[in-house]
Amino acid sequence: MLNKKIISLVNQKGGVGKTTSVINIGFSLASLRHKVLIIDLDAQGNASSGIGVTKQDIEYSSYDFIMGSVDVNKCIYSTRKEGLSIIYASSNLSGAEIELVNSKNREFFLKERLENLNYDYILIDCPPSLGLLTVNALTASNYIIIPVQAEYYALEGLSQLLETFKAVKNSINPDLSILGVILTMYDKRTTLGNQILDEINKYFGDLTFNTKIPRNIRLAEAPSFGLSIYEHDKWSKGARAYKALSKEIEQRLDHLNK
Ligand SMILES: Nc1ncnc2c1ncn2[C@@H]1O[C@H](COP(=O)(O)OP(=O)(O)O)[C@@H](O)[C@H]1O
Ligand SMILES: [Mg+2]
Repeated sequence: MLNKKIISLVNQKGGVGKTTSVINIGFSLASLRHKVLIIDLDAQGNASSGIGVTKQDIEYSSYDFIMGSVDVNKCIYSTRKEGLSIIYASSNLSGAEIELVNSKNREFFLKERLENLNYDYILIDCPPSLGLLTVNALTASNYIIIPVQAEYYALEGLSQLLETFKAVKNSINPDLSILGVILTMYDKRTTLGNQILDEINKYFGDLTFNTKIPRNIRLAEAPSFGLSIYEHDKWSKGARAYKALSKEIEQRLDHLNK
């Protein structure tokens, strides 16, 4: 399908805001009347629980989706948010890495399964590693978004991430590009926050999104209730930031696809 936007949120560091961003950008894009699919590709299943699923509700997961044992549509569940669907993760996903290693075309499993799906946006929540599941996500995507936490060592690991990105782009997916970098858990009142912002701007230039995601307790609370920030506290700073960021993503893509 033309102009299908498949975006991986990737950073092999854990705790930088990948899952929080996937959930809240997903909800926000659905509110902007897009048809959105979230794929939880992390065996920990934080995006799945953050959207409020109970284990009994899942018959087929992203493991089944990737391995191709069942029809793709059986793995896709609608959520209570109109326009937003999800493929849940289950713990057996960690076994997929091992099963894939010895498979032919092992980088292409996810891409093949996405081929006939019809969504405006597909957002992939990557696991905290640069293993085969992440490589499958990068192979299937047109874009990556890199969340970077405004903390000490924020840039650590990014050169390795960019090497993986380039390796996939140069060998198997020339269409892949970086859509942007999100600065997360940013506190503009601290010297540290602003030092990191400067570093990120120096390193990534215009790729950094204008919208920064503030450190916000409401964002941290929401997943424990299985809620998006819009359901938990829609007037919070976090909710407003993710709404602005989603508009910025939409605009950046409009501009690129002209
Ligand atoms: N902007 C934010 N402000 C406060 N807490 C946040 C924010 N973004 C994420 N968190 C919290 O930080 C932790 C890590 O975020 P998460 O999105 O799960 O990262 P990742 O998916 O990269 O591991 C979670 O407990 C989450 O609720
Ligand atoms: Mg996560």
